[in-house]
Amino acid sequence: RVSLQTLADASPFPIGFAISPARILSNAPYRQTVIQEATSITADVAMKPSRISPQKGVYNFDVADQLIEFARSQKKRVHGHTLVWYIDTSPNWLKQIRDSTELETTLQTYIQTVGTHFKGKVASWDVVNEAVDNQGIIRKDSLNMVGKTLFNVGKVLGHDYVARMFQYAHKADPDARLFYNDYGQETRPAKLAAIVNMAADFKRRGVPIHGLGLQMHISINTPNEGIEKAIQKLAETGLLIHISELDIAVNPGKKKDFLMTQELLEKQYHKYKFVVSTYKKLVPASQQFGITLWGVDDGTSWIPSFCQCEDAALPFDANFGKKRAYQGFLDGLR
Ligand code: G3I
Repeated sequence: RVSLQTLADASPFPIGFAISPARILSNAPYRQTVIQEATSITADVAMKPSRISPQKGVYNFDVADQLIEFARSQKKRVHGHTLVWYIDTSPNWLKQIRDSTELETTLQTYIQTVGTHFKGKVASWDVVNEAVDNQGIIRKDSLNMVGKTLFNVGKVLGHDYVARMFQYAHKADPDARLFYNDYGQETRPAKLAAIVNMAADFKRRGVPIHGLGLQMHISINTPNEGIEKAIQKLAETGLLIHISELDIAVNPGKKKDFLMTQELLEKQYHKYKFVVSTYKKLVPASQQFGITLWGVDDGTSWIPSFCQCEDAALPFDANFGKKRAYQGFLDGLR
């Protein structure tokens, strides 16, 4: 039995989707699902630096502005993602900069320009994404890894750059809620501890941080204890808590001959229910920034192209049918 109630109706906190403005325009069921189910939206790539500033000194807000316009017309909150990220969504021209003064002023100018453009139009920003490595250290790894040039801000600017990016973002848009966002906190205790400590340090020093994003790209096998502990520890910081990129893989082993079964769908039901109910139970209402799903439907999820395998990690199937996972999300809200 699938309920007729939407996630947005059932939820006491905002429900978000990561979306692509092109799909909103071209794919009617995708658009309709977002309109009905969501109260908040995040751009999956449209607001990343590589899209906004493809060349030095050039800013192109056209696609991101389509998303803003959609949000305005449908009365959805916009969560901005992301101002600074070490990895390959930073434009090539920016990744080449090795001089610390030049990099600092370039990022400062970028944040000031972008923050000002979206002022009053976004509720919040992921200011820095994924700066902490899995051992709990601000990334200082080599500038060339796995054949990709990583934009390693930490190596050029030193570990305290994260705090300065928050100061620049706050100056650009004093009303925006500012988040630090990262993955793997539910399975890496050292990483979780480092993020909690960083948040406490920022609060002590008066660095303008308002929230923490727990991405939660997890699977049906991710242990519940780790999920519970991450939500609990983050909530104890007193900051806003955003489950910012939720999806739950059913093919964590990335098997090529993957076969979907009823049993896997049932496991996914339980994991969605657990994540949502734990968030609702452990995060005080005043700190519930919401839960955002990283994508709308299994047909357009980022996972298959990334893992070169099949998966089905979202509550909607490729035909926008509600899966057991959808019911799990709803049951978790109850
Ligand atoms: O738009 C181009 C298209 O014109 C081109 O033909 C095609 C060929 O590769 O690429 C398209 O761009 C891709 C883009 O997604 C849009 O689908 C990029 O190559 C691809 O790198 C990009 O991947 C995104 C990735 O971040 C990097 O920006 C994923 O969609 C997006 O889901 C993913 O999101 C991240 C979060 O930002 C941070 N946390 C992890 C999460 C998942 O990796």
